[in-house]
Amino acid sequence: VSLQQYNTFQFDYQAEFFAIVDNLETLKSLLGWARQQHLSVTMLGGGSNLLISADIPGLVIINRLKGCSAKEEKGNHLSLVVGAGENWHKIVEFTVQNNWFGIENLALIPGTAGAAPVQNIGAYGVEVKDSLARVQVLDRVSLDVYWINAHDCGFAYRDSHFKGQWKEKYFITAIELSLKKRADLMLSYGGLANQIDGEPSLQKVFQAVCQVRSSKLPDPNELANAGSFFKNPIVSVAQHSQLKESFPSLVSFPHGKEFKLAAGWLIDQAGWKGKVQQGVGVYEKQALVLINHQASKAESLLELEASIKASVFDLYGVELEREPVQLPGLSGKLNQEIPL
Ligand code: EPU
Repeated sequence: VSLQQYNTFQFDYQAEFFAIVDNLETLKSLLGWARQQHLSVTMLGGGSNLLISADIPGLVIINRLKGCSAKEEKGNHLSLVVGAGENWHKIVEFTVQNNWFGIENLALIPGTAGAAPVQNIGAYGVEVKDSLARVQVLDRVSLDVYWINAHDCGFAYRDSHFKGQWKEKYFITAIELSLKKRADLMLSYGGLANQIDGEPSLQKVFQAVCQVRSSKLPDPNELANAGSFFKNPIVSVAQHSQLKESFPSLVSFPHGKEFKLAAGWLIDQAGWKGKVQQGVGVYEKQALVLINHQASKAESLLELEASIKASVFDLYGVELEREPVQLPGLSGKLNQEIPL
């Protein structure tokens, strides 16, 4: 099996073993089997924040655990439990149709519900952690399934323990969102308010986000990409004022006691926007997004990444950090049968 259709960069690499899973029992027996065989296991959701640059050792599991159930709670809150393999945007759409507030600014983010907490997806001033109550995990060793409170997941800008210390410990099997029944809109970020005519409403915000995103960000079905390829770098007040002096049009936002720089601006001003080389390139409408135009392997993208990082560092003294997760590679046999 080629993993091409399971990563939105559409790079063509293979897995040693491959399975698509839609229920917990199968997932547990696969994990038991992989352990007996001493195989590493990699779980993928939508593959939209992923960089595959080699064949993948061990077992690759595509998470298609489904389900979406709402539980009315007292007062203003409503809890929605969602299977990790559900499409994130479909869930956002469903909450907007039901008049539940909380995740409307996160419309059109590609990928699955279970991947949302991993990098704490965010857009237009909202992050998933703001509406997340708990995350259901499967312990890779004991195979126990239990819930972890959102407060304990180490959420930060595009980061969580699932990306760090828990990477080898858990798989996410479901999430529980805590939504609001009464209006609570976040309009202050990125000119969202200007996109809305008349009195803002949940539906209007949802539509505005969909509109802004589709105008700035490429649809992965048309142009292979993984969204923002770099995180917006966070710099000290001192470095920020130095940069602002040299580059008065620098785009930045206060971030706690520091400043977050728009990496898109840094890359754009360094002259990269719209560049194409060796089948890959920088998106013409948003320099933070790298595109795979026609490469089947990741080498040229990795070269482009290195050149962009070097040029941004030379110009501004700022180190860019990659946002998508890169998987480790393999040398050996591929596509073997799973004897289950
Ligand atoms: N800019 C440029 N040139 C560019 C791109 C951006 O000058 O080519 C400047 C513009 O002035 C713009 C500013 O940078 O106002 C910020 O750009 P934008 O509003 O497009 O947002 P971003 O900071 O580039 C972040 C997230 C996106 C998210 C948007 C909207 C990160 C790494 N990216 O991008 O998330 O959709 O804000 O909230 O934080 C993703 O993570 O995959 C992603 C797409």
